[in-house]
Amino acid sequence: VAEIARVKNLNMIQMGRHEVETWYFSPYPQEYAYCDMLLICEFCLSYYVSHKQLERHRGRCQLQHPPGNEIYRHEDVSFFEIDGRKQKTWCRNLCLLSKLFLDHKTLYYDVDPFLFYCMTIRDDLGCHLIGYFSKEKESSENYNVACILTLPQYQRHGYGKLLIQFSYELSKVEGRAGSPEKPLSDLGLLSYRAYWTDTIVEFLLSTTEEVTIEEISLRTSITSQDILHTLQNIGALKYYRGQHIICLGDKVIEQWQRNHKKKRRTIAPEKLDWKPIH
Ligand code: COA
Ligand code: NA
Repeated sequence: VAEIARVKNLNMIQMGRHEVETWYFSPYPQEYAYCDMLLICEFCLSYYVSHKQLERHRGRCQLQHPPGNEIYRHEDVSFFEIDGRKQKTWCRNLCLLSKLFLDHKTLYYDVDPFLFYCMTIRDDLGCHLIGYFSKEKESSENYNVACILTLPQYQRHGYGKLLIQFSYELSKVEGRAGSPEKPLSDLGLLSYRAYWTDTIVEFLLSTTEEVTIEEISLRTSITSQDILHTLQNIGALKYYRGQHIICLGDKVIEQWQRNHKKKRRTIAPEKLDWKPIH
């Protein structure tokens, strides 16, 4: 029975004006799991089988943004911090929704130990959820991200990089380095590698001084291990006269310059209004 129950159940969801094909199994209650299209209120994330039910709900639903503190606002992007202990239902609904697009992670039904950082884009109707990452309130392994997701309808527009950048801005405020929880999915790894490469190359190009891996870590809050792997990946670690030196190749620099011609949003750190809980 357990085997059968883990086969991908829902095929489609509707959220706001988007209809989205699902990727993986998610443990929605039985009575919702076998409908053609699950209808999800894009603000409170509760779910319905019939349009009538959803409409009735929308007439009553008061939420126009995720139920937490707005800790960042710049242009139309906002981040809300939501405490799993205080907003159990909303956070559980978020976990059910994100499990549809996450294969490998055990989903945390116990949302209490987590904070959820939800990124929205604002328009006349409200703050629409684009993606989020969760973070353990206390991580023994200095993880700064547990799960990270851009809703599929918004993927490949640079929002994943924004989420990742935001997670490192929080680590900078905490004054420590962090790394995402392992294992990462293929898409997660691609996105992190892109972010690490971009950030490290940018830092190296911005300075004429000799820098160590520890110094890069202090400035970026990327762990020394992730920096070392990234430098190896891009072939920037050379062995010279008995010691390792960091040296960027022309190709790497050209790639970085090409990336920076794309006009993509970035996080404006000065707009972050946040203090760690501890
Ligand atoms: N194919 C190839 N490269 C990809 C890719 C894909 N489908 N998706 C992301 N990348 C790489 C690219 O280098 C991209 O930069 P570029 O578009 O400038 O080339 C970079 O990652 C970042 O892309 P971005 O648009 O910022 O990411 P996103 O908003 O699509 O979100 C994830 C990335 C990982 C959050 C998203 O794919 C996702 O939610 N996946 C499902 C959940 C998951 O696997 N989470 C991670 C494990 S917990
Ligand atoms: Na992760």
